[in-house]
Amino acid sequence: MCILVDVEGIDGVGKSTVIRLTADELRRRGYLVYVTSEPSDSPIGLFIRKNVLESNLEVEPTALALLFAADRVVHYNRVIRPKVQEGYIVITERYIESTVAYQGSQGVPIEWIMEINSTVAEPDLVIILNAPLSTVAGRLTSRGTLEYFERNISFLKSVQETYLRRARERNYPVIDASRLIKDVVNDVLTLIEDKAQGKCKNNN
Ligand code: TMP
Repeated sequence: MCILVDVEGIDGVGKSTVIRLTADELRRRGYLVYVTSEPSDSPIGLFIRKNVLESNLEVEPTALALLFAADRVVHYNRVIRPKVQEGYIVITERYIESTVAYQGSQGVPIEWIMEINSTVAEPDLVIILNAPLSTVAGRLTSRGTLEYFERNISFLKSVQETYLRRARERNYPVIDASRLIKDVVNDVLTLIEDKAQGKCKNNN
């Protein structure tokens, strides 16, 4: 048994790059690492990407919360749990806290979100990446086509506020992702190695 790490933060904050570089370094240090993300590539995840994120279709936030939770059940049971059991450090880009932050900011009650996610395990570690909205907005614009939630900076501001409030309430570490990438990765590495110690295989 090893650990599940959830890396969270608003669109454009740099999650993918930080996860990739962190995973490379953990592997170099001898750990088995498996990187994944949500929405996952299950049929439900693909449905969400195609019919919601890449389209202009307005979907009721409650229905969206259920779709993301359904994708998560499949993702957890078929991918995450087996990999954790095999001894991998599983790093997921987005998990339960994304539904809390995004659909919670759309007005869906957080207690209910936690309830519909109660059949999957909570992560061993949740890391929130945070950066000023001006930095994030610049990154998103330079990406070209914007998806569903990326178009609305004031919505992303409330998502960011929800992340930071949850971090205070649940003691999640918040990492300043506007610094040099190597410093951000170093902080994330320290947090993950602290949790992994004694639980995960390390071949070195
Ligand atoms: P991404 O793959 O670029 O991160 O896009 C996923 C989008 O879906 C992002 O805008 C956040 C949103 N999302 C939710 O609203 N709720 C969720 O539970 C998840 C996993 C993602």
